[in-house]
Amino acid sequence: MPENTIQTIGVIGAGTMGSGIAHVFARSGFSVILCDIQQDFLLKAKDRIRTNLNREAAKGKLPQDQVDQALARITTTTDRTALAQADFAPQIVIEAASERFDLKAELFQSLDKILPAEAILATNTSSISITKLAAQTQRPAQVIGMHFFNPVPVMALVEIIRGLQTNQATYDAVHALSKLLGKTPIEVNDSPGFVSNRVLMPLINEAAFTVMEGVATAEAVDQVFQLGMAHPMGPLTLADFIGLDVCVDILRMLHQGLGDPKYRPCPLLVRMVDAGWLGRKSGRGFYSYP
Ligand code: CAA
Repeated sequence: MPENTIQTIGVIGAGTMGSGIAHVFARSGFSVILCDIQQDFLLKAKDRIRTNLNREAAKGKLPQDQVDQALARITTTTDRTALAQADFAPQIVIEAASERFDLKAELFQSLDKILPAEAILATNTSSISITKLAAQTQRPAQVIGMHFFNPVPVMALVEIIRGLQTNQATYDAVHALSKLLGKTPIEVNDSPGFVSNRVLMPLINEAAFTVMEGVATAEAVDQVFQLGMAHPMGPLTLADFIGLDVCVDILRMLHQGLGDPKYRPCPLLVRMVDAGWLGRKSGRGFYSYP
């Protein structure tokens, strides 16, 4: 395993995943530049990270004095070109923007121009082809998937996805980095939904079908998985946690990418998304969140 030379990380996108990623890197001693398009998003992200670091300190998982130290390692900016400043330049940027190919393609083209030639471009995408994103850049061998799980500070896994073009040095660097975060990296090749969502989304979808068909209530379906299979959350609680819109988007992508009707989104899920019932974030999904 090569020695880690990475000290500064860029994170694009300050939503739940981006702020979780910034949190774990800062907690592990890395300098982080967190970038989003609005100052407001960055302020909210810093608040969320502070709350979660304090939560860890309260549980004795992190010395209290390290909360402020970790926060001080996070710089925020709304200016993407700030990533190019020589004394600042990150050796890796992890993109955690919205899950839209056109948006990510534009970001990758622009980051490719801004960043030093040796920098790695990683994406936290849960479903978009790494191979296709790599092809947007002049450094396809240095593009890779680094898929974290929510809540990032808690979940042990990083699913590392090799695109067709990804070279071994890039893989090794990201593997070593994941271990320095205290995570367990698992290697996967580029394919729709990778492993995590290719297996998880059909479970959530089938759970929704059982509710739609009146086989059981949402509560009963979830209890079957919590009590019978020791899942920390049942599949429908988890769907609310992930966002029903995200689940439907991933199912559509699996359906289209793999061409198998078994991935078609459950009509109940689609109707709920149409109604704006997106799960926890909208206050209503399979459950209510007053
Ligand atoms: N930051 C830091 N710590 C956090 C945290 C956060 N955001 N959220 C929770 N925690 C910690 C708590 O402090 C607590 O620590 P201790 O065990 O030391 O007490 C621990 O996590 C458990 O939290 P709670 O007791 O508050 O709540 P819980 O027991 O109900 O657990 C949960 C919450 C960790 C989310 C648990 O329900 C769980 O593991 N659920 C499954 C989550 C999951 O499957 N995530 C993957 C989603 S899929 C995805 O992300 C990828 C995709 O592509 C769609």
